Amino acid sequence: MTANYPALRLRRTRATAWSRAMHRENFLSPADLIWPLFVTDGSGVEEPIGSLPGVSRWSLDGIAARAKEAVSLGIPCLALFPNTQPGRRSEDGREALNPDNLMCRAIKTIRDTVGDGLGVLTDVALDPYTSHGQDGLIDAKGYVLNDATVEVLVGQSLNQAAAGADIIAPSDMMDGRIGVIRAALEEAGHHNMQIMAYAAKYASAFYGPFRDAVGSGGLLKGNKMTYQMDPANGEEALREVALDLAEGADSVMVKPGLPYLDIARRVKERFEVPVFAYQVSGEYAMIEAAVTVGSGDRDALVLETLTAFKRAGCSGVLTYHAAHAARLLNA
Ligand code: PBG
Repeated sequence: MTANYPALRLRRTRATAWSRAMHRENFLSPADLIWPLFVTDGSGVEEPIGSLPGVSRWSLDGIAARAKEAVSLGIPCLALFPNTQPGRRSEDGREALNPDNLMCRAIKTIRDTVGDGLGVLTDVALDPYTSHGQDGLIDAKGYVLNDATVEVLVGQSLNQAAAGADIIAPSDMMDGRIGVIRAALEEAGHHNMQIMAYAAKYASAFYGPFRDAVGSGGLLKGNKMTYQMDPANGEEALREVALDLAEGADSVMVKPGLPYLDIARRVKERFEVPVFAYQVSGEYAMIEAAVTVGSGDRDALVLETLTAFKRAGCSGVLTYHAAHAARLLNA
């Protein structure tokens, strides 16, 4: 028994719903959510993704419908990922530079459908376009070349910017890319283009379903450990964030999400900048798997995990549960 017992009883403020509401420290709202969408060719196409139950690839008409849905739900931003046709994938990922590629057409479709009513975040990395599934250009041994890759990423960023993207999100983890991309955007007159850097991106086992969704999983030889971070490292994440901010990032991302909440918190406390987290495909799949075998309640699991990101200090979360969570929050 402590000296303060029973004068101090923390259960007092938890005793009723009104009191819990009054003492709540963090709130989740639809405005905290960024909705990742997978794009495919054709029209009227919805392709369910087996390893990501409840998530589909949509053709452009479906993307337009999702954009309208996002606006009506109060979700501020979509994140786009293309499933490039196999014939358009190549060793050097040059399809990333095609002004009429699937990504650019999706950006324009959203723009035509909802105007400026919705943000469009685009991933900068070559994995949806390479025949080997790596995020950059490789040498004869399969090593991903840094500086040569950055040159292509600059072209990819300018291509997405020209198509009307609002936020460029480099997810490639090459050194120095934020600074070079920022300089190129300024030079091209894209002064208001935001860069959300995937600053602390780990070589994670949680990306499997995503790679199925963009069709790079089966192509990938080896792993991404020579550029994505070692899951054992924390200090190194702070160095990555410091560099990306110094090079011109407007906000930073930590990825994956829940297993790396400690990183999100440390980044927020150290830098006091907008921090976003990506609750990645494997995390989504884990929740859905738990629900399927009756191990948990979907709505409660979704809201609890997403609220945890707010408590950790995140400004928002990329989550495949975005539409479902927004519906729950709007109810
Ligand atoms: C591509 C990229 C990946 C994810 C987002 N952008 C996969 C990877 O790095 O292999 C993963 C997202 C998810 O798992 O939901 N560079």
